[in-house]
Amino acid sequence: MARRQSLHGQWSSRLAFVLAATGAAVGLGNIWKFPYMTGENGGGAFVIIYLACVLAIGLPIFMAEAMLGRRGRRNPINTMKLLSEEEAGGTYWQLVGWMGVLAGVLILSYYSVIAGWTFFYAWDTATGVFVDADATLVVNEFNSLMASPMWLIFWHTIFIGLTVYVVGRGVEQGLEKAVKYLMPTLFALILVLVAYAMTTDFFGDAMKYMFQPDFSKVTAQTVLDAMGQAFFSLSLGMGAIMAYGAYLPDDASIAETSLTVVAADTSVALLAGLAIFPIVLMNGLDPGAGAGLVFQTLPLAFGHMPGGQIFGTIFFVLLIFAAWSSSIGLIEPAVARLIENHGMSRQGAAISIGVVVWFLGLLTVLSFNHLSDFTFLAGTIFDNLDFLTSNIMLPLGGLLIALFAGWVMCKSSSVEELELGTGMRYAIWRFLTRFLAPTALLVIFLNATGLLNFASTTSA
Ligand code: TRP
Repeated sequence: MARRQSLHGQWSSRLAFVLAATGAAVGLGNIWKFPYMTGENGGGAFVIIYLACVLAIGLPIFMAEAMLGRRGRRNPINTMKLLSEEEAGGTYWQLVGWMGVLAGVLILSYYSVIAGWTFFYAWDTATGVFVDADATLVVNEFNSLMASPMWLIFWHTIFIGLTVYVVGRGVEQGLEKAVKYLMPTLFALILVLVAYAMTTDFFGDAMKYMFQPDFSKVTAQTVLDAMGQAFFSLSLGMGAIMAYGAYLPDDASIAETSLTVVAADTSVALLAGLAIFPIVLMNGLDPGAGAGLVFQTLPLAFGHMPGGQIFGTIFFVLLIFAAWSSSIGLIEPAVARLIENHGMSRQGAAISIGVVVWFLGLLTVLSFNHLSDFTFLAGTIFDNLDFLTSNIMLPLGGLLIALFAGWVMCKSSSVEELELGTGMRYAIWRFLTRFLAPTALLVIFLNATGLLNFASTTSA
């Protein structure tokens, strides 16, 4: 098949795609969520199940998304529409693209608010607020940030501004340039933190905590959580990787680049755990502290350790970088759609989506203060946005993407695009994409929507 061209240009190299996709993948999910989920689920067993999910479900779907993206070379909506026409699927397949674009906008609306907290914490840590702090001070600091819509909005605005700025500059001048600096710095910072953690007496304990499995703590819910986390962390199910795949050079190997990104994302999650748990254990704090682990437990630990002001600041700057490169990936599908279908300039498109996301973000801001008592279904408006996107839209999107790539697309098309030949490696990909991944995603989806109560009935 003659190769198509993307309207938005291309990554200048395979490496650029790897960096950008790693940038999308590595985010708050790796450094904030993965450690606290590991802590809540008792450590080693969760980590092992997580790794299995990444390999068996994450990797094949990552390849599927990158493959569809490069074949269509358009935004996820248009790519799904075009490929579906070519493969004689129905026009409704473009809905997968629509759901993805919408999921990106919704996720970014709350992601950006939480990313805003990291600015606040970087600032507080750098200026010594947490030096010798006690637990009350740290909790008060967090609560007073949550109680202040003004500050939350202020940092949210800065964060959206940074994202719009990069995306407005285009694939090569914006996205690629940003990740070229952000990703190596991020890796360097996390290595500094792990190196520091290794000098403490608690590194061995942390290793044990993370890698010695205690399967007695595993319930069906643990497996579902690990699967959902793997999916969120790899940025799958919403066409973001499809959008980035659309700018992938023709001669880049989908399997190799996907494997590299998946390995990098997983390494950062594991390294984040190895950086965080030693200092949590060293300070006698609780690794199972939940969502507050990074924003309440860690500042306390940094306040009491030698060099904590510096290492603490490094840590929060790391979070800012990770969140920034992910936000770029969340907004790009919507921006590409506006450019392709509504003839907008890139800057105009980025600003328009940025404004929509900014307003939506106010709902999350208010969920922590004025509207904190306004709860329904999953909790506050923020909780509902999080639940709707991570537990329903992403698994459903992933399920449909797997079905499309495995069943609707004819074999010769995926053979041609993946360039794995027709041997064992291709057969494994096809099996996982056709059978294992859809089954697993269907279970997550049904469980989340309450249509199937698999987890709570078996975990009791
Ligand atoms: N993977 C990101 C993280 O771990 C979050 C995320 C989910 C994302 N879906 C995405 C980022 C799509 C970019 C694009 O924090």
